[in-house]
Amino acid sequence: MKLVVGISGASGAPYARRLLDFLAGPGREAGIETHVVFTRFGKLCWTDEVGTDPDAYGFPTYNPGDMTAPFASGSARFDAMVVVPCSAGQLGRIAHGVSADLVGRAADVMLKERKPLLLVLRESPFSLIHVRNMQAVMEAGARVMPAAPSFYSAPATVDALLDTVVARILDQLGVDNALMRRWDGRPPPDARFAQVVAPTPPLEQT
Ligand SMILES: Cc1cc2nc3c(=O)[nH]c(=O)nc-3n(C[C@H](O)[C@H](O)[C@H](O)COP(=O)(O)O)c2cc1C
Repeated sequence: MKLVVGISGASGAPYARRLLDFLAGPGREAGIETHVVFTRFGKLCWTDEVGTDPDAYGFPTYNPGDMTAPFASGSARFDAMVVVPCSAGQLGRIAHGVSADLVGRAADVMLKERKPLLLVLRESPFSLIHVRNMQAVMEAGARVMPAAPSFYSAPATVDALLDTVVARILDQLGVDNALMRRWDGRPPPDARFAQVVAPTPPLEQT
Protein backbone atom coordinates (compact mmCIF):
# COMPACT_ATOMS: atom_id res chain seq x y z
CA MET A 1 0.00 0.00 0.00
CA LYS A 2 1.27 3.48 -0.88
CA LEU A 3 0.03 5.80 1.85
CA VAL A 4 0.17 9.57 2.26
CA VAL A 5 0.11 10.93 5.81
CA GLY A 6 -0.74 14.63 5.92
CA ILE A 7 -0.16 16.39 9.23
CA SER A 8 -1.93 19.72 9.61
CA GLY A 9 -1.95 22.38 12.26
CA ALA A 10 -4.64 21.26 14.67
CA SER A 11 -3.69 20.26 18.16
CA GLY A 12 -3.16 16.49 18.18
CA ALA A 13 0.29 15.94 16.68
CA PRO A 14 0.75 13.05 19.18
CA TYR A 15 -1.88 11.10 17.19
CA ALA A 16 0.33 11.51 14.12
CA ARG A 17 3.35 10.43 16.16
CA ARG A 18 1.66 7.19 17.21
CA LEU A 19 0.56 6.51 13.62
CA LEU A 20 4.09 7.13 12.29
CA ASP A 21 5.50 4.93 15.10
CA PHE A 22 3.29 2.11 13.87
CA LEU A 23 3.99 2.72 10.19
CA ALA A 24 7.76 2.77 10.82
CA GLY A 25 7.57 -0.63 12.56
CA PRO A 26 4.76 -3.10 11.84
CA GLY A 27 3.56 -0.96 8.94
CA ARG A 28 6.88 -1.16 7.13
CA GLU A 29 7.05 -4.90 7.78
CA ALA A 30 3.57 -5.24 6.29
CA GLY A 31 4.79 -3.52 3.12
CA ILE A 32 3.17 -0.14 3.65
CA GLU A 33 5.10 2.62 1.86
CA THR A 34 4.54 5.80 3.87
CA HIS A 35 5.06 9.33 2.54
CA VAL A 36 4.71 12.29 4.91
CA VAL A 37 3.79 15.92 4.36
CA PHE A 38 3.35 18.53 7.07
CA THR A 39 1.59 21.83 6.59
CA ARG A 40 3.49 24.83 7.93
CA PHE A 41 1.34 24.95 11.07
CA GLY A 42 1.38 21.17 11.30
CA LYS A 43 5.15 21.30 11.70
CA LEU A 44 4.83 24.01 14.37
CA CYS A 45 2.27 21.97 16.34
CA TRP A 46 4.48 18.85 16.05
CA THR A 47 7.42 20.82 17.43
CA ASP A 48 5.33 22.09 20.35
CA GLU A 49 3.41 18.90 21.14
CA VAL A 50 5.89 16.14 20.19
CA GLY A 51 9.29 17.76 19.82
CA THR A 52 11.12 14.92 18.09
CA ASP A 53 12.61 15.04 14.59
CA PRO A 54 10.04 13.43 12.24
CA ASP A 55 12.78 12.87 9.64
CA ALA A 56 14.18 10.22 11.99
CA TYR A 57 11.47 7.83 10.76
CA GLY A 58 13.18 7.79 7.38
CA PHE A 59 9.96 8.28 5.40
CA PRO A 60 10.05 10.39 2.24
CA THR A 61 8.88 13.87 3.27
CA TYR A 62 7.78 16.84 1.20
CA ASN A 63 7.46 20.57 1.60
CA PRO A 64 3.86 21.75 1.83
CA GLY A 65 4.30 23.90 -1.28
CA ASP A 66 5.89 21.15 -3.38
CA MET A 67 3.32 20.32 -6.04
CA THR A 68 5.86 18.09 -7.80
CA ALA A 69 5.42 15.37 -5.15
CA PRO A 70 4.31 12.09 -6.76
CA PHE A 71 0.95 12.00 -4.97
CA ALA A 72 0.05 15.46 -6.33
CA SER A 73 -0.93 13.48 -9.42
CA GLY A 74 -3.44 10.66 -9.64
CA SER A 75 -1.11 8.91 -12.08
CA ALA A 76 1.23 8.02 -9.19
CA ARG A 77 -1.53 5.65 -8.01
CA PHE A 78 -1.27 6.11 -4.26
CA ASP A 79 -3.74 3.91 -2.40
CA ALA A 80 -4.92 6.02 0.53
CA MET A 81 -4.38 9.19 2.54
CA VAL A 82 -4.83 10.12 6.18
CA VAL A 83 -4.82 13.70 7.41
CA VAL A 84 -4.03 13.49 11.13
CA PRO A 85 -4.70 15.73 12.84
CA CYS A 86 -6.91 17.58 10.36
CA SER A 87 -7.54 21.24 11.13
CA ALA A 88 -10.93 22.81 10.52
CA GLY A 89 -9.22 25.07 7.98
CA GLN A 90 -7.80 22.11 6.07
CA LEU A 91 -11.22 20.41 6.18
CA GLY A 92 -12.76 23.54 4.69
CA ARG A 93 -10.20 23.77 1.92
CA ILE A 94 -10.60 20.09 1.06
CA ALA A 95 -14.40 20.42 1.11
CA HIS A 96 -14.16 23.19 -1.47
CA GLY A 97 -11.42 21.72 -3.64
CA VAL A 98 -8.93 24.44 -2.76
CA SER A 99 -5.59 22.77 -3.45
CA ALA A 100 -3.67 25.60 -1.79
CA ASP A 101 -0.95 23.31 -0.41
CA LEU A 102 0.29 19.76 -0.99
CA VAL A 103 -1.97 18.30 1.72
CA GLY A 104 -5.01 19.87 0.05
CA ARG A 105 -3.93 18.80 -3.42
CA ALA A 106 -3.19 15.23 -2.32
CA ALA A 107 -6.62 15.04 -0.66
CA ASP A 108 -8.23 16.41 -3.83
CA VAL A 109 -6.46 13.68 -5.82
CA MET A 110 -7.72 10.97 -3.45
CA LEU A 111 -11.30 12.18 -3.86
CA LYS A 112 -11.16 12.41 -7.65
CA GLU A 113 -9.50 8.99 -7.88
CA ARG A 114 -12.11 7.55 -5.49
CA LYS A 115 -9.43 6.37 -3.05
CA PRO A 116 -9.80 6.24 0.76
CA LEU A 117 -9.30 9.64 2.37
CA LEU A 118 -9.47 9.76 6.18
CA LEU A 119 -9.71 13.14 7.88
CA VAL A 120 -9.00 12.94 11.61
CA LEU A 121 -10.64 16.21 12.55
CA ARG A 122 -9.67 17.98 15.78
CA GLU A 123 -11.81 20.90 16.77
CA SER A 124 -14.24 21.66 19.57
CA PRO A 125 -16.93 22.84 19.53
CA PHE A 126 -18.00 22.50 15.90
CA SER A 127 -19.53 25.43 14.05
CA LEU A 128 -22.26 24.89 11.49
CA ILE A 129 -19.62 25.63 8.85
CA HIS A 130 -17.51 22.71 10.12
CA VAL A 131 -20.54 20.41 10.05
CA ARG A 132 -21.44 21.47 6.51
CA ASN A 133 -17.84 20.94 5.40
CA MET A 134 -17.86 17.48 6.98
CA GLN A 135 -21.04 16.69 5.05
CA ALA A 136 -19.46 17.94 1.81
CA VAL A 137 -16.33 15.79 2.12
CA MET A 138 -18.35 12.76 3.16
CA GLU A 139 -20.61 13.17 0.14
CA ALA A 140 -17.45 13.32 -1.98
CA GLY A 141 -16.25 10.02 -0.47
CA ALA A 142 -13.99 11.00 2.45
CA ARG A 143 -14.33 9.54 5.94
CA VAL A 144 -14.33 11.97 8.85
CA MET A 145 -12.93 10.48 12.04
CA PRO A 146 -13.02 12.79 15.03
CA ALA A 147 -9.88 12.72 17.15
CA ALA A 148 -12.05 11.36 19.97
CA PRO A 149 -10.37 8.68 22.08
CA SER A 150 -12.38 5.89 23.75
CA PHE A 151 -12.08 4.44 27.25
CA TYR A 152 -13.71 0.99 27.14
CA SER A 153 -10.34 -0.72 26.60
CA ALA A 154 -9.09 0.87 29.83
CA PRO A 155 -6.11 2.75 28.38
CA ALA A 156 -3.67 3.33 31.21
CA THR A 157 -1.23 5.69 29.52
CA VAL A 158 -1.51 8.66 27.19
CA ASP A 159 -0.03 6.56 24.37
CA ALA A 160 -2.65 3.87 24.98
CA LEU A 161 -5.33 6.55 24.84
CA LEU A 162 -3.89 7.90 21.57
CA ASP A 163 -3.86 4.35 20.22
CA THR A 164 -7.63 4.06 20.61
CA VAL A 165 -7.82 6.60 17.76
CA VAL A 166 -4.86 5.29 15.77
CA ALA A 167 -6.22 1.72 15.87
CA ARG A 168 -9.45 2.92 14.25
CA ILE A 169 -7.48 4.81 11.57
CA LEU A 170 -5.61 1.59 10.74
CA ASP A 171 -8.87 -0.38 10.83
CA GLN A 172 -10.33 1.99 8.24
CA LEU A 173 -7.26 1.45 6.06
CA GLY A 174 -7.68 -2.32 6.41
CA VAL A 175 -4.35 -2.65 8.25
CA ASP A 176 -4.14 -5.39 10.90
CA ASN A 177 -3.10 -4.02 14.28
CA ALA A 178 -3.25 -4.84 17.94
CA LEU A 179 -2.94 -1.28 19.21
CA MET A 180 -5.94 -1.53 21.52
CA ARG A 181 -7.88 -4.23 23.25
CA ARG A 182 -10.95 -4.98 21.15
CA TRP A 183 -14.38 -4.96 22.75
CA ASP A 184 -15.55 -8.54 23.33
CA GLY A 185 -18.65 -7.83 25.35
CA ARG A 186 -16.88 -7.22 28.65
CA PRO A 187 -14.42 -4.63 29.96
CA PRO A 188 -10.92 -5.88 30.79
CA PRO A 189 -10.69 -7.35 34.32
CA ASP A 190 -8.40 -4.55 35.50
CA ALA A 191 -10.46 -1.77 33.91
CA ARG A 192 -11.30 -0.19 37.24
CA PHE A 193 -7.62 0.26 38.01
CA ALA A 194 -6.58 1.85 34.73
CA GLN A 195 -7.28 5.34 35.94
CA VAL A 196 -5.29 4.94 39.12
CA VAL A 197 -1.99 4.57 37.27
CA ALA A 198 -1.49 8.31 37.52
CA PRO A 199 -3.82 9.37 40.35
CA THR A 200 -5.20 12.84 40.05
CA PRO A 201 -6.16 14.71 43.23
CA PRO A 202 -9.87 15.51 43.50
CA LEU A 203 -10.91 18.91 42.23
CA GLU A 204 -11.09 21.58 44.91
CA GLN A 205 -14.64 22.47 45.85
CA THR A 206 -15.25 26.22 45.64
C1 LIG B 1 -1.89 26.08 19.86
C2 LIG B 1 -2.81 25.98 18.67
C3 LIG B 1 -3.73 24.97 18.64
C4 LIG B 1 -4.61 24.86 17.56
N1 LIG B 1 -5.50 23.84 17.57
C5 LIG B 1 -6.37 23.73 16.55
C6 LIG B 1 -7.29 22.66 16.55
O1 LIG B 1 -7.32 21.81 17.45
N2 LIG B 1 -8.11 22.56 15.50
C7 LIG B 1 -8.09 23.46 14.45
O2 LIG B 1 -8.87 23.30 13.51
N3 LIG B 1 -7.22 24.50 14.43
C8 LIG B 1 -6.36 24.64 15.46
N4 LIG B 1 -5.45 25.68 15.44
C9 LIG B 1 -5.49 26.65 14.35
C10 LIG B 1 -4.73 26.16 13.13
O3 LIG B 1 -3.35 25.99 13.45
C11 LIG B 1 -4.86 27.20 12.00
O4 LIG B 1 -6.19 27.25 11.55
C12 LIG B 1 -3.94 26.94 10.85
O5 LIG B 1 -4.15 27.92 9.86
C13 LIG B 1 -4.15 25.57 10.26
O6 LIG B 1 -3.33 25.46 9.13
P1 LIG B 1 -3.26 24.15 8.26
O7 LIG B 1 -4.65 23.68 8.05
O8 LIG B 1 -2.61 24.60 6.99
O9 LIG B 1 -2.41 23.20 8.98
C14 LIG B 1 -4.55 25.80 16.50
C15 LIG B 1 -3.59 26.81 16.52
C16 LIG B 1 -2.73 26.90 17.60
C17 LIG B 1 -1.69 28.00 17.61
